[in-house]
Amino acid sequence: MCGIVAYTGQKDAYPIIIKGLKRLEYRGYDSTGVALLNGGLNVYKKKGKVSELESHLQHEHLSGNIGIGHTRWATHGEPNDVNAHPHYSASKNLAIIHNGIIENYSVIKQDLINKGHIFLSETDSEVLIHFIEDIQKKAQCSLEEAVRLALQEVVGAYAIVIMSRDSPRKLIAARKGSPLVIGVGKDEYFLASDATPIIEYTNEVIYLDDHQIAVISDNQLDIKNLEDIHIIPYVHKLELELESIEKGGFEHFMLKEIFEQPKSVKDSMRGRISAEKGQIMLGGLREYLDKLTQAQRIIILGCGTSWHAGLVAEYIFEEYARIPVEVEYASEFRYRNPVINPEDIVIAISQSGETADTLAAIELAKSKGAVIFGVCNVVGASIPRATHAGAYTHAGPEIGVASTKAFTAQVTVLSMMAIVAAKSRGTISDKVYRELLTAFEDIPVKIQQALNSNAQIKYIADIFKDARNFLYLGRGYNFPVALEGALKLKEISYIHAEGYPAAEMKHGPIALIDEEMPVVFIATKDSSYEKIVSNIQEVRARKGRVIAVVTEGDQLIKQMAEFVIEIPATHEALTPILAVIPLQLLSYYIAVMRGCNVDQPRNLAKSVTVE
Ligand code: F6R
Repeated sequence: MCGIVAYTGQKDAYPIIIKGLKRLEYRGYDSTGVALLNGGLNVYKKKGKVSELESHLQHEHLSGNIGIGHTRWATHGEPNDVNAHPHYSASKNLAIIHNGIIENYSVIKQDLINKGHIFLSETDSEVLIHFIEDIQKKAQCSLEEAVRLALQEVVGAYAIVIMSRDSPRKLIAARKGSPLVIGVGKDEYFLASDATPIIEYTNEVIYLDDHQIAVISDNQLDIKNLEDIHIIPYVHKLELELESIEKGGFEHFMLKEIFEQPKSVKDSMRGRISAEKGQIMLGGLREYLDKLTQAQRIIILGCGTSWHAGLVAEYIFEEYARIPVEVEYASEFRYRNPVINPEDIVIAISQSGETADTLAAIELAKSKGAVIFGVCNVVGASIPRATHAGAYTHAGPEIGVASTKAFTAQVTVLSMMAIVAAKSRGTISDKVYRELLTAFEDIPVKIQQALNSNAQIKYIADIFKDARNFLYLGRGYNFPVALEGALKLKEISYIHAEGYPAAEMKHGPIALIDEEMPVVFIATKDSSYEKIVSNIQEVRARKGRVIAVVTEGDQLIKQMAEFVIEIPATHEALTPILAVIPLQLLSYYIAVMRGCNVDQPRNLAKSVTVE
């Protein structure tokens, strides 16, 4: 949460920073600020989105070749002009941008107040920059040394960049727990929370590690750790395409990402699966394949949509690899005292690779000796770096805050993992193995066919856009899809929605059903088809309004439901990848028709780097 951008070089910093902040707005969008060195250290900030700051500053003269900028998702203090970053130190010589949380800020703040410091904002970040300046004054040391000493005292997470009026060609950056990427250009450097603000200027980047401090001074980069030891950085070559972070003619990133799924799922499988050769290979797991094969239990960790992908994986791992699976909310797992045995495998799922709860859960599992696999989308993020092995989902950048293509890519990769494990354990017959491989290969084309219901779904959305509640029901592999459908709707349209296993309905939620209640059934022709048909009848008998996602050609449900949306037939285990598509579209159109900001829903941020 929160996006940070900084620049130092020969160009004007302001346009680079503003453009970069727009790219990072998915990380938070309740206030924005920029600091520039132009005839002094000047801070410009405002509640609201980047574009609001931009119009507010349109008549200002904003020159300067060095600057920092921030887009905020509020943690300490409400979103307003004062709490927006950058924040000044007491003497106004220093300015800071910060992503993360300083947990012991109140103790430091009280100490500084006792020394006469006056704070303008309620933020922990302002405390940090006062603290750094206070240390510098007391120790009579360089700014970088003061930063190092301050960070040794700090408990919490941070990615920070600091600039100084007295050192006009210097930026100091540091990270612990929050991401920070350094772009290396020709006589210029870029710093950002991810690579998207950097990609159009350079494809050479350095991912700063936890407990490292980078000092860029007169266009020289120097990286040290908190013990003051020099680090030789590894310069990565980015493979990100600029088009992949632009809307490409779609009205919203979310719609673009929904329509990208034939390609993103294909990319998830690229080079990993061949029905012809009868083979699935996940290179990232090779070294630990024995561990997976011999696993006594798999614990899957994730949050939100990633947790739903984990639930789908539970079905496929248990059915084909015959390994018991537990799927856990990372936020709960990290605060229990979970039983983890050396033969257990932990799989952590995360689109962003930065979710604080998932990272903490990984660290806990690691401390208990577990081998951790990561299933992440963002290459080089904190989670893939904290895990022993894993497989990237390769879905490409997901910018819409509501996760869509990341989910289908996660399910694809997890399903491949399960089939690899099943094959290696000998728990899957050759026939089923081959059937699954063919089904995988056909899936991108079938996603494309599922997308053909777009116009029909728009029509249905118009009919139900004013509903106050929705129920989503599914069984077996489609139960997690029901949860995911409900989450998509509530997060972008603000309509209350619940997902349930269809059979659970009669244990409570059935009381909600009346002629006003839309009930979305995911009722494909699979092993629980007859059962879900009965559940549909139970809802119809109570006058609920049924929208059903069915397998192409289904005649029976057509006679019972008010609307049916068809998806192509596939192997039961891969149904979630197709069944979720109409639900994504339904939420999207309902949200647009209600006038909601689908790409940046209220109160949400794309990567949740606070717990
Ligand atoms: C919902 C959504 C969130 C994320 C959750 C985990 O559309 O995007 O529920 O799935 O915050 O994020 P990652 O996968 O980045 O760990």
